[in-house]
Amino acid sequence: MVLVDIVEGLPQGKALDMNQSGPVVGYEPNVVGTNGYEETAGSEIVVITSGSPRKPGMSRDDLLETNKGIVGSVCKEVADRSPDAVVIVVTNPLDAMCHVAADVTSFPRHRLIGMAGILDSARFRTFLAWELGVSVRDVTGFVLGGHGDTMVPVVSYTSVAGVPVSQRLSDDRLEEIVQRTRGGGAEVGKLLQKGSAFYAPSAATAEMIDSIIFDQKRVLPCAALCQGEYGVDGLFVGVPVRLGRDGVEEIVEIDLADREKEELQKSAGAVSELVEAMAALG
Ligand code: 2OP
Repeated sequence: MVLVDIVEGLPQGKALDMNQSGPVVGYEPNVVGTNGYEETAGSEIVVITSGSPRKPGMSRDDLLETNKGIVGSVCKEVADRSPDAVVIVVTNPLDAMCHVAADVTSFPRHRLIGMAGILDSARFRTFLAWELGVSVRDVTGFVLGGHGDTMVPVVSYTSVAGVPVSQRLSDDRLEEIVQRTRGGGAEVGKLLQKGSAFYAPSAATAEMIDSIIFDQKRVLPCAALCQGEYGVDGLFVGVPVRLGRDGVEEIVEIDLADREKEELQKSAGAVSELVEAMAALG
């Protein structure tokens, strides 16, 4: 595993620290930290987190211009050295940054994936588990759409040990939990004051990596380039995908409730506006 950062000493220090946890946690200390890209050559999976994080009060979309440049230059270095990699984009605004990665790398859509849906779903499941006093392991639910204020927690498929959550909670309370999920990242950022969430985003990314490296074929919500699926064409939005050794092996289409369909279209519209705004930046 190779860690890259522009700050001198930072990736080297993190790598050294991680290596020293190997004997305790049980892995071989093979983490490399570097300020360049040579060591990344031939990577199977590349996770792109480079860019500015949100500051309190900022929306993810406020980062568009700065992060477009950063993600674009990183993707160029990656595509030159690891032409067969599966790329997982984490930088915000997530869906727009997936478009930057697609433009710069020209990788096929199955090898470009955005991390957001698992994170948003994890927040949704956490809030529901707390509300109902049950284990998060028994709360199934997922969030689709863009990784922004218009994301769509899919209530119609959310269940607790198989029982639809609508049988356990009132519509009003569910709506409050949906809204808290939408603001989940901002809530963490507001508390931290500096930087944004780390643990849940990295856990979500690790789940994607496991599914790819170990060919687990998990069905997980991720940002993928839709080409007609869910009535969305030519846009990266969060949809359920089957993740295996080749990356996105399938976009899994499910029947949504009418309201959720409308919300997904609205969310895709918000992504489309961002992509247009980015094109206007040149
Ligand atoms: C989040 O929602 C950073 O977008 C990320 O926490």
